Amino acid sequence: MMNTYYVDLTNCKDKETFHNAVVRDLPVPDYYGHNLDALYDVLTAMGPCEIVLTHAESLEENDPDYYERVLQVLTDATEENDGLDVEIQSLASEVPLVMYDEEDEDEDDDFYINAFTAFSRDWAILTAGDQDKWNGMLIGWGQVGTLWGEPVCTVYVRKSRYTHEIMEDSDIFTVSFFDHDEYKKDLAVMGRLSGRDGDKVARTSLTPIPLDKGVTYDEANLTLVCEKIYTQTLDYEAMAPVGQAQYKDGDMHDMYIGKVIEIIEG
Ligand SMILES: Cc1cc2nc3c(=O)[nH]c(=O)nc-3n(C[C@H](O)[C@H](O)[C@H](O)COP(=O)(O)O)c2cc1C
Repeated sequence: MMNTYYVDLTNCKDKETFHNAVVRDLPVPDYYGHNLDALYDVLTAMGPCEIVLTHAESLEENDPDYYERVLQVLTDATEENDGLDVEIQSLASEVPLVMYDEEDEDEDDDFYINAFTAFSRDWAILTAGDQDKWNGMLIGWGQVGTLWGEPVCTVYVRKSRYTHEIMEDSDIFTVSFFDHDEYKKDLAVMGRLSGRDGDKVARTSLTPIPLDKGVTYDEANLTLVCEKIYTQTLDYEAMAPVGQAQYKDGDMHDMYIGKVIEIIEG
């Protein structure tokens, strides 16, 4: 397996702090010269590996000239060393998923969601599977955020749901957000009926649309297309009483964390 080195550039603000991070996170020799020539020598001598620079925005914002020079050295080194892959992760280039700010909401075309209310107050539809076999259900719990350097969305599905069966069979799911007031009756249908008993979407005004990966609805304001990267049944013993109170009947939630591979607006 190829080695991956993460160089964490949090708080890097100049040449000195950048090379300190390199020394801390990369296998450099003791005589490392703390300059870009020395970095080039290290990178071109490395065996097959991937180097991920995280929080590159720190150096990018504090010392843009040096940041440009670092990028040039990385480019030159990857051209010289066929076994070397470099990935730059910068918050400046993160997915355009932003926290909701009522004052800003109307100022541009972005669709804003409030991570604290998008699920619990406004609800979403989780749709598992693809156009050959899929099912959607209403969800009131979920999170968006970051895991392993990836933008992610986490959802919770009780094992008794028909959607659970499809989640288990498919690597893809979508999370679709709507104008709550306009669609709350339809959303409620998706949360009351089971796809196991028939076509519940036909009982709503929602129009399913197949995507390259997954299925969403024409009426959604925002859809996160997700690829499963982690699944786990919630552990009753590990829960505080607030959680245990939800599982008196033993119908546990499975937690699915999906990497957000596409964001569809409008
Ligand atoms: C407001 C609301 C939020 C819900 N949130 C969840 C949830 O996060 N996870 C879950 O497993 N079920 C949740 N449900 C229940 C499912 O949506 C419901 O059982 C649905 O009928 C399951 O459909 P299915 O059998 O077609 O999968 C919620 C229901 C409502 C009304």
